Amino acid sequence: MPDEWLALYPGVREHEPLPPHSWYGIGGRARYFLELADDAPLPELVGRLNRDQVPYLVIGAASNTLFAGHELPGLTIKLSTSGISVDREAVSVSAGTLMPKLAAEMSRAGRAGLEFAAGVPGTVGGSVFGNAGAFGGEVKDRLLRAEVVDPEGTRQVMTAAECAFAYRDSVFKRSRDRWVITSATFATTSEPPVAVRARLLEVQKHRRATQPIEQRSLGSTFKNPPGDSAGRLIDACGLKGLRIGGAQVSPKHANFIVNLGGASADDVLALMAEMRDRVQERFGIELEPEIRVIGRAPRA
Ligand code: EPU
Repeated sequence: MPDEWLALYPGVREHEPLPPHSWYGIGGRARYFLELADDAPLPELVGRLNRDQVPYLVIGAASNTLFAGHELPGLTIKLSTSGISVDREAVSVSAGTLMPKLAAEMSRAGRAGLEFAAGVPGTVGGSVFGNAGAFGGEVKDRLLRAEVVDPEGTRQVMTAAECAFAYRDSVFKRSRDRWVITSATFATTSEPPVAVRARLLEVQKHRRATQPIEQRSLGSTFKNPPGDSAGRLIDACGLKGLRIGGAQVSPKHANFIVNLGGASADDVLALMAEMRDRVQERFGIELEPEIRVIGRAPRA
């Protein structure tokens, strides 16, 4: 087997249960699993995985990812690197840093422009991958460059233009899923900490008021169709509160599926299919998943 060497790789665990590594608390197992708090081994590791044609998946907080398969093949790499460094306008952040932590640090440092990150419950790497955004800000507005490891195992710096961002989309999500984002550099401006903090608190308040943040979810389940809102459409179909197994359309925000406890990936996928079908029947609009479903097609 081309992946047998992984069993001997330092830190690798076998048949790792994924629920503890998933924001949703849902998932099967990973055949091989490695958590990295330092990305130094990545270039060599990624180069070898590609040469040996071993599948791999990089995750951060898995707050936008549904693990739907029984056992993920190959290696699952959890990047839990952390570190923020400020060089005048530019702020460089390791991929594993949580966006709300970045927002909080920036407000303390009097750096403005990343307040929206307080409303993004994921890591910096995941946020660059999906061009995450909230409350009027998104990664593409602020990113200067991303540091990545390419499939050959070479470190590269990509400009924001090269990341080809679009609404909840990037070149990584579209066609470079074997590239690994290791850090990102954002542009900020200088402002009194108290002013930055006030906007950050506004983001948190608005989020608390409109989203079920006290429950486990993957955020917005579907992308907003052009000119409309998936939440409004699902709500208009009367689906708030609908439950399949342990998964429920949030009574607070119809585009969120919450895990009431013990939800399975099947429950979530069945609820997604129902939401899509009902919106299609009623409005003739096909909703596109915003969450990343790993191990199975979202319609299965
Ligand atoms: N709405 C309803 N019923 C609902 C939910 C929403 O009628 O159950 C209506 C609202 O009244 C509002 C409109 O739909 O008029 C839009 O709703 P909201 O302001 O809550 O924003 P959203 O479009 O549903 C987007 C992002 C969120 C982000 C918020 C705040 C997408 C798919 N979602 O949600 O991002 O936090 O704006 O900026 O673009 C995420 O991507 O995971 C995410 C949570």
